Amino acid sequence: METVLSGIQPSGGFHIGNYLGAVQNWVRMAALPDYRCYFCIVDLHAITQNYEPSAMPNRVVELCADLLAAGLDPNRSALFVQSQVPEHTELAWILATVTPYGELSRMTQFKDKSERQPENINAGLLTYPILMAADILLYRATRVPVGMDQVQHLELAREIARRFNGRFGDTFPEPLPIHTQAPKILGLDGKQKMSKSLGNTIEVTENPEAIRKKIAGAYTDETRLRKTDPGHPESCYVCGLHNYFSPPDVTARHHEGCRTATLGCVDSKRALAESLIQYLAPMRERSLELRAHPEQIRETLAAGAETARRAARETMGLVRERLGFYR
Ligand code: TRP
Repeated sequence: METVLSGIQPSGGFHIGNYLGAVQNWVRMAALPDYRCYFCIVDLHAITQNYEPSAMPNRVVELCADLLAAGLDPNRSALFVQSQVPEHTELAWILATVTPYGELSRMTQFKDKSERQPENINAGLLTYPILMAADILLYRATRVPVGMDQVQHLELAREIARRFNGRFGDTFPEPLPIHTQAPKILGLDGKQKMSKSLGNTIEVTENPEAIRKKIAGAYTDETRLRKTDPGHPESCYVCGLHNYFSPPDVTARHHEGCRTATLGCVDSKRALAESLIQYLAPMRERSLELRAHPEQIRETLAAGAETARRAARETMGLVRERLGFYR
């Protein structure tokens, strides 16, 4: 039996990069019989960065709708909002007392974020990895699916578990990362990673017209200036996306057409846009339907928080005992 926990920032619905990179894996893991999964929408983490409070509820609803639409089964995993399980903050305080300050200040994300928001270097940015450790250890998770950018944070979570166990007795398993060979999808500019803040994404709920327009403007091989120039499908951004979203025969046709200069980039983009539209249609439809019924989302998240709290309370009972708190 493995216990899995992962967290995702509530930045609204997600894009095709998130879907292929993380979400698809969550869906797969949640369906495995011997995996108990917790998926946490981390609003307490989100408030360490500049944000608009009035937009937060909707971001949570959109994210939850997209996750459900992607096939995450809320009956097989606990999908919940971090701030609805107050034990996260309680454990974070306790773990802070076994976290070396020096390590926190050396986290590369802390340094990056401090540079990005020099006017708001709050202590929460520094203690962010402690809250993340609390998310994981609260459920005594054994496995944590993370992207490369979170590996350092997970290493620290392991050290925090080790230190707590060393000081107070065996309490937490040391969580192991799950690295997936998920593709890194670049943004439509073909250069930077796909990211909402860079404005180079295709959302899974994007409407067909917007998809056609965005793909038409996507990056193509700069060495293929004319249609009569042979291209390089292995390194071409549009050909790469065909691999993920087009049926094999369409992909083969456009890779071949690119290599032999018989099909142009414009043709390839048109076909890709139609493939994407078809690929995303069921998810889009389902998500829009769910977003139109926020009361269903509320129920799902409430049930998820209830499940999470049951486990969280049990861990906290043990933690309090280990700490010698008065009862
Ligand atoms: N910090 C993670 C990110 O930005 C999100 C996160 C919060 C997380 N708590 C977590 C990921 C616990 C894995 C486990 O992507």
